[in-house]
Amino acid sequence: MSSGTGGLFVSHANTRSRYEVCREWLRERLLVANDLLWQGARICLATSFWMPLVDYLRVLKSPDKARLTPLHRALASIRRRASRDPKFYDYGHGYFYQSLEPLLVSGRRRTSERVHELELSALCDGRKVLDLGSNVCFLSLQLAQGALSVDCVDTNPYAIEIGKTAARFMDTRNISFEISDYMDFLRSCEDGTYDTVLLLSSHVSFDHTDSSHLDGLLDQCARVLAKDGTLIFESHPRFFEDRYSGMERTFHALTEHFAITRLGQLSYGSMLDRGRFVAYCRKH
Ligand SMILES: C[S@@+](CC[C@H](N)C(=O)[O-])C[C@H]1O[C@@H](n2cnc3c(N)ncnc32)[C@H](O)[C@@H]1O
Repeated sequence: MSSGTGGLFVSHANTRSRYEVCREWLRERLLVANDLLWQGARICLATSFWMPLVDYLRVLKSPDKARLTPLHRALASIRRRASRDPKFYDYGHGYFYQSLEPLLVSGRRRTSERVHELELSALCDGRKVLDLGSNVCFLSLQLAQGALSVDCVDTNPYAIEIGKTAARFMDTRNISFEISDYMDFLRSCEDGTYDTVLLLSSHVSFDHTDSSHLDGLLDQCARVLAKDGTLIFESHPRFFEDRYSGMERTFHALTEHFAITRLGQLSYGSMLDRGRFVAYCRKH
């Protein structure tokens, strides 16, 4: 991740070469095409065919095959039920949005690499963590290995069921799961409950594209954060952010509620990762 302090967000955009601008433009068009293909035909080559095949072969070759096979079947069964329910957007495009390497599960975003690049362990180990819009909770499960506790919140019951199933398999007990709108969950929390709050690509989403809750959401995040706690915010790729909220507007709201102590832009991973902004924030 390229990083720096305040100002990077604006200055970085101004100093990009023509090549970088073209590369970003192309990457975003490919992401849009990928989303349109998924929405129209429910096909995504990487996740509909490639990832399930790779994981099947990895499990087949694994010395832990006898334990992993029933787990992968159980996860596949939840995914099948999820795909028949049109109420929730499938961020995994037919497979998983997050990977979980210890269980040989691939995902559109590689969890271990993400934890490393965002330096999440340093801000989660030994701490009380809240993951808002946790999706299948694989990132939370990875962080729970070092954290004091991790609370996961998501509106999608299938994603939470997948997280619970994986947690049972890993015998991870310092993690909790809540099927809820995060605004409702946050309102039920006491002031200063959490050392670290994760708001990663979930402040607006395909399920909740109306961004009018952003101020209220950030206000609640600041309230539930301990005095010296950190909010870690990850933006969407710019095309998505600009369609529903506006990158500048999102960061304006963020700075109204928090002091950004560090700002970076992701430069690792797939086209779904690269170019997103990540902000580490303290309460004013
Ligand atoms: C793009 S995914 C991001 C998942 C995860 N935070 C990550 O970065 O890997 C967005 C997730 O936020 C969840 N979400 C969106 N709006 C929500 C809300 N109001 N309350 C709870 N979860 C929400 C969606 O169900 C989805 O699982």
